[in-house]
Amino acid sequence: MCGIVGYVGPKNAVPLLIEGLKRLEYRGYDSAGVAVRQADGALAILKRVGRLSNLEEALDATPVAGGLGIGHTRWATHGEPSEINSHPHLDGSGRIAVVHNGIIENYLALRAELEAKGHVFRSQTDTEVIPHLIEEILKGGGKSRLEAIREALRSARGAYALGIVFRDEPDALYAARCGSPLIVGVGDGEQFIASDVPAILNRVNKVIYLNDGEVAELRPAGVAVSKLDGTPAAPEIKAVTLKAEAAERAGFETFMLKEIHEQPRVLRTLLDAHVRKDGSVDLGEASALLEAQAQNAQRVLILSCGTAHYAGMYGRLLIERWADIPCETDLGSEFRYRQPRLPERTLAIAVSQSGETADTLASVRLAREMGCKVVSICNVPGSTLLRESDAALLTQAGPEIGVASTKAFTAQLMAFALLAIRLGRLRGALDEKRERELTAELARIPDYIHRVLDRQDDIRAISQKYYECFNALYLGRRFNYPIALEGALKNKEISYQHAEGYAAGEMKHGPIALINELLPVVCLCTPTADEVRDKMVSNLKEVEARKGRIVAVVAEGDESLRGLAQDVIPVPETIEELSPLVNVVALQLFAYHNAKARGADIDKPRNLAKSVTVE
Ligand code: M6R
Repeated sequence: MCGIVGYVGPKNAVPLLIEGLKRLEYRGYDSAGVAVRQADGALAILKRVGRLSNLEEALDATPVAGGLGIGHTRWATHGEPSEINSHPHLDGSGRIAVVHNGIIENYLALRAELEAKGHVFRSQTDTEVIPHLIEEILKGGGKSRLEAIREALRSARGAYALGIVFRDEPDALYAARCGSPLIVGVGDGEQFIASDVPAILNRVNKVIYLNDGEVAELRPAGVAVSKLDGTPAAPEIKAVTLKAEAAERAGFETFMLKEIHEQPRVLRTLLDAHVRKDGSVDLGEASALLEAQAQNAQRVLILSCGTAHYAGMYGRLLIERWADIPCETDLGSEFRYRQPRLPERTLAIAVSQSGETADTLASVRLAREMGCKVVSICNVPGSTLLRESDAALLTQAGPEIGVASTKAFTAQLMAFALLAIRLGRLRGALDEKRERELTAELARIPDYIHRVLDRQDDIRAISQKYYECFNALYLGRRFNYPIALEGALKNKEISYQHAEGYAAGEMKHGPIALINELLPVVCLCTPTADEVRDKMVSNLKEVEARKGRIVAVVAEGDESLRGLAQDVIPVPETIEELSPLVNVVALQLFAYHNAKARGADIDKPRNLAKSVTVE
């Protein structure tokens, strides 16, 4: 959840670290810090609680400079956000500085052993054991710093991405990875480390994705990677294809708003990659596995968390409808603890924007142990999920920096539509004509979303009527039930207005008790004609009878609900199966403007972090 950067080279590390941390702040933002090896031989440490801007101010007031440094932006796990608990952490002598993302699970035992040897700890963090362990090993003599790092990590259990510098070694930056993401940016006469590619986009065009159990030694002239047992590793250097603008706001007031507006382009990219000119679906790298699994699999199991889980719920409906195969979904955090019983031939689909969500990864590992093949729907190239899957469908949405997921979600929905069509064709559940019809309708979705975006001012005006309410209820049926859940999640996570998503048919089983003249009820009422539409209208009547304030998302031209709803948001009409792709954009804008009116920090909602790498 935390962000890490590091630099070794001829330039002053400080502006490079700050630039990188700015691009990683979405990973955690309760405190930040840097360690810089200065020309006078001192190791300067500066930390501040709160946003990165506080650290920047401190650096302006007390400038430090040097060609070797590490930086960190924190999402607290062990110990409250405070300067003492902020990274970097030091050993007892103040010569070794460490930044860490992850959790050292056996830190209490390690700490007790070290305390028994006289080490004094300053913080409540798990991280602090690492510099002390390295110090203790080096004290014994006869080992290089690299050997000491490897030995220390052999006794650490848990997850880590680490950046390590030594006061007495001004031209070496060390990095290690196990379970938390870390990349090495390979430059010309300078090297970087970072939790994620956007942090170093302007600076290098080649990266190494470290593997679990690898330690890298970076010197200005080059990078050497070895395994924890000391054997050399042969890292693959990959070209960076992302453009720097992808990680910038491009004139939008927030990343979230930019990402909402990027959706038509993102979906077009995905369609261009996977729909052939003749209208058939080609899943590229994932094709071979799906071909092998289509007839063989008895069941599909979708694993994911948060917003990605709602995409999974949508995917399940499509797979059952278009591919005619039983499908279930589970939350990563539940699947791993419920003693699942799976049919022998189960195809697992893991969904994750980041590809680093700890619970999703753990559930994928369990599914694999149980014999499942795993296809992942993922947005981040080089992520852990991609490496641990048998095949992947990349959503290609580009970096999503706003903590609230938007474009990654609609790309996941689109990926499921493509996957369900392909599975349907392979299983004979869809014929060629139907495939062509569906892909033709998919191709219209980006334009439909443009039309929703064009209504932003109207949606903003509606949200202004409700932003002061304490609660909101979101209702949808069948394909739009996951969208009701996602609309409510989006609202609560960025505006802090309590919001519940419900299957509209369930309302009378409990949440109807909430309805009064103060409660906005956001209802998804498209398309105009399908078998659940009448049921939805009955639910609206039930809300009306209890004086609830209805905000209805309706199809353009559908005037039938105007008398019933206080407010309507018209959106282009498509088939029911694809309506979630259009409807969710209206709910994203509704949540956005609600949050803005409530004065929230939209890109960095309180307590959240973009990628949840702890359980
Ligand atoms: O990176 P992932 O898609 O695996 O993340 C899963 C959830 O943590 C994520 O979707 C979260 O719910 C977002 N904040 C939603 O906006």
